[in-house]
Amino acid sequence: MEAKTNFIHYVGVNDRQKHLFENMWPLPYGVSYNSYLITEDIVTLIDTVDPHYFDVYIRKIKQHIGERPIDYLVINHMEPDHSGSIALIKKYYPDITIVGNKLTLNMIEGYYGVSENTLLVNDGDTLPIGKRTLSFHTTPMVHWPETMMTYIPEDGILFSGDAFGCFGALNGGYIDTEINTDIYWNEMVRYYSNIVGKYGSPVQKALQKLAGLKVHAICSTHGPVWVKHAQRVISIYDKLSRYEAEKGVVLVYGSMYGHTEQMAETIAEELSKQGIINIVMHNISKSNASDILTDIFKYNGLIVGSPTYNGQIFPEIDSLLSKILMREVKNRHFGYFGSFTWAGMAVKRMGEFAEKSKFNVVGEPVEMKQAMMDAEACKELARKMAKAINC
Ligand code: FEO
Repeated sequence: MEAKTNFIHYVGVNDRQKHLFENMWPLPYGVSYNSYLITEDIVTLIDTVDPHYFDVYIRKIKQHIGERPIDYLVINHMEPDHSGSIALIKKYYPDITIVGNKLTLNMIEGYYGVSENTLLVNDGDTLPIGKRTLSFHTTPMVHWPETMMTYIPEDGILFSGDAFGCFGALNGGYIDTEINTDIYWNEMVRYYSNIVGKYGSPVQKALQKLAGLKVHAICSTHGPVWVKHAQRVISIYDKLSRYEAEKGVVLVYGSMYGHTEQMAETIAEELSKQGIINIVMHNISKSNASDILTDIFKYNGLIVGSPTYNGQIFPEIDSLLSKILMREVKNRHFGYFGSFTWAGMAVKRMGEFAEKSKFNVVGEPVEMKQAMMDAEACKELARKMAKAINC
C-alpha cells in the first residue's frame, strides 16, 4: 500500500508527561496512544486514547470529519490507555455502535457501564464499511484475554492493538517511511520485555494466525505505523516470543561496599578475554529493571551476583529475579555468584531461582566470604559461560 491513504487518518496522541508507564516502566522518549479513523462510506474509529488527552483527541477527530457522526468504534484492546476514552466518545457520539468480542464487551460494561449499542463479533467475522471490509481476528492473551486485531483485506492493513508496539512518542511524523526510526528498535524490545514478555506462547499463536494474512501495514496502538519495516517488526516479535537471543552476557549484580562488584568485574574481564563481545553490566542499584529485562531478552547468557543482606538475598536482586520468573523467560544460560560476611544465603536463593527458571546452569556458583582473595573461581565461571553461549 501507499504509505499514506486518504481513508485512514491517524488521530492518536503523544504522552510526554508520564514518567512511568503502568507506574513502573520509565518513558525517556514518552509514549504514543494510537487511534485511527477510517473514513469510508461508514466512519469507523479504531481504539481510543488515554482520557487525559481527550481534548486533543476529539479535536483531531473533528479535523477530519467535522460534524459527521462516527458509526463504529472498534475496540481491539481494553487496557485503559486505549479504552479510557470510550465513555467520553459515547457522550460525543451517542449513536455510535461499539464493536468488540464477548470478553471486550463484558469489560466495557465493567469498566464504563456501557452495554447498549454494541455489536458482538467473533473470530473471523467481517463487517462491510463501504468499498472495504473489516475482519476481526481474536488473539487472546497478547497480553490481555480480550485482545483482538482488525484487518482490512483489500489493502492489507492490520490494526494490531499493542502487538508490534513500542515505547517512544511520535515526533511529528507517524509512518516509518517518513521518520527516523532509530530510537524505536530498542524501545520495541523494552516494550515487549516489560509489557508482553510473559506471553510468548500466545504471541506465537497470534503470529501463526497472521501468517495467513497479507500484511502491508501495521497500525499498532503504540509507536510508528510500520509500512517499510512491517516484516522486520513481525520478525522481531517472532524472535522475542520464542525467547531467541543473540550471543552475549548480561551481568547483573548488587553490591553494598564493592566486594561483590569486584567479583562481577573479574567475571566480565574474563568473559572479554574469552572473546565475548556483547557484555552488558548492570549495577542493580543504578540500572532500571526495565533496561535489565530488555537486555535479558536480547542476550542468551545471564550472570547474577548478590551479597547476603539481612540473612537473605539483596532485595533489589530478589525483585529482579521475580520479574524474570514472572516473564517465564526461557533458553538462557545462567551463572551466579554471591558474598557474605558471617552466614551466606544469597547464593542459596539464586540456586532456588535457577531451579524454578529451568535455565541451563553453567559452572559452579561462586560464594565469597568477606573480601575476594582468590579470583580464580570467578574466572572459571566466566570461562564456562563463554563456552556455553558459544555452543
Ligand atoms: Fe497499551 Fe495493553 O495497553
